[in-house]
Amino acid sequence: MSGFLVIGATGNVGRHVVARLRDGGGDVRALARRPAAGALPDGVHAVQGDLADPRTLDAALDGVTKVFLLWPFLSAEAAPAVVDALARNARHVVYLSAMSVRDDLKPEENGFWGEIEHLIERSALDWTFLRVGGLAANTLGWADQIRTEGVVRWPYGAAARSLIHERDVAAVAARALLDDGHAGAKYVLTGPEAVTQADQVRLIGEAIGRPVRWEELPPERAREQLLASWGDAAFVDGALGYWATLADRPEPVTHTVEQVTGVPARTFGEWAREHARDFSPA
Ligand SMILES: NC(=O)c1ccc[n+]([C@@H]2O[C@H](COP(=O)([O-])OP(=O)(O)OC[C@H]3O[C@@H](n4cnc5c(N)ncnc54)[C@H](OP(=O)(O)O)[C@@H]3O)[C@@H](O)[C@H]2O)c1
Repeated sequence: MSGFLVIGATGNVGRHVVARLRDGGGDVRALARRPAAGALPDGVHAVQGDLADPRTLDAALDGVTKVFLLWPFLSAEAAPAVVDALARNARHVVYLSAMSVRDDLKPEENGFWGEIEHLIERSALDWTFLRVGGLAANTLGWADQIRTEGVVRWPYGAAARSLIHERDVAAVAARALLDDGHAGAKYVLTGPEAVTQADQVRLIGEAIGRPVRWEELPPERAREQLLASWGDAAFVDGALGYWATLADRPEPVTHTVEQVTGVPARTFGEWAREHARDFSPA
């Protein structure tokens, strides 16, 4: 049985990847910047490492053949050294990329997700790319407003997104890591339907048993908030520009989750019910 290393193992997606690999009988390690007791499921070993310091990775990768990789930065600056370390040690990487990556564009036109795909493709590694649309977990960014005021102030309420449940991304990742036959695949992963942002907010309200109101925020105000949290103006403007298009042209829906796992992707309503506590007053 392969040794697996899960990078991002404490995050929304990675924690479910870890659980599925462990249930699949794998020898699972979790990369952690600060390994903490009790943070991981039984049977999963934490290994210290930091993607920002690629020299830390060789020890974490000793004995590992397959890796789940996500990239927690908005720049690919450290990625060449990280991909080199993966290629020196492992055989296959399953990389959490983005639906925005297009094969007809040059790598440098595809943002950091595309640059990292390109580095992996040019390495000796086998790879599977999970090109994910928006994660449903992005809406946790509204949780404070919902808890305290019962309102979401955000732009583009009519923008329809096919947000995906983190468990469905993890389910595909686990199949790609546990089974043969996924090398070279570029899976475009979405939820089962496109739901407007205003309807997402309504569904969160239904899940918590309290109405939640949508209040349209001018995009310039959202830009200020996003700049404060993301810092990268080009990335912020790219995101806002993309969301603006989704009112007229809803995000596409794929059925790849079901094709790979045999189970349909979960709806946004299911995601909201599962996360109701995150949006409810303490
Ligand atoms: N949000 C979207 O709509 C979307 C769309 C497409 C792709 N993606 C990709 O999905 C990823 C987010 O997934 P997620 O929501 O599961 O992540 P998340 O919940 O934000 O968690 C991030 C994980 O990365 C780890 N991490 C952060 N910095 C690290 C470092 N320097 N070295 C090693 N590990 C580090 C964190 O570990 P600790 O903090 O515990 O160390 C944590 O486990 C992003 O990287 C993005 O590229 C997102």
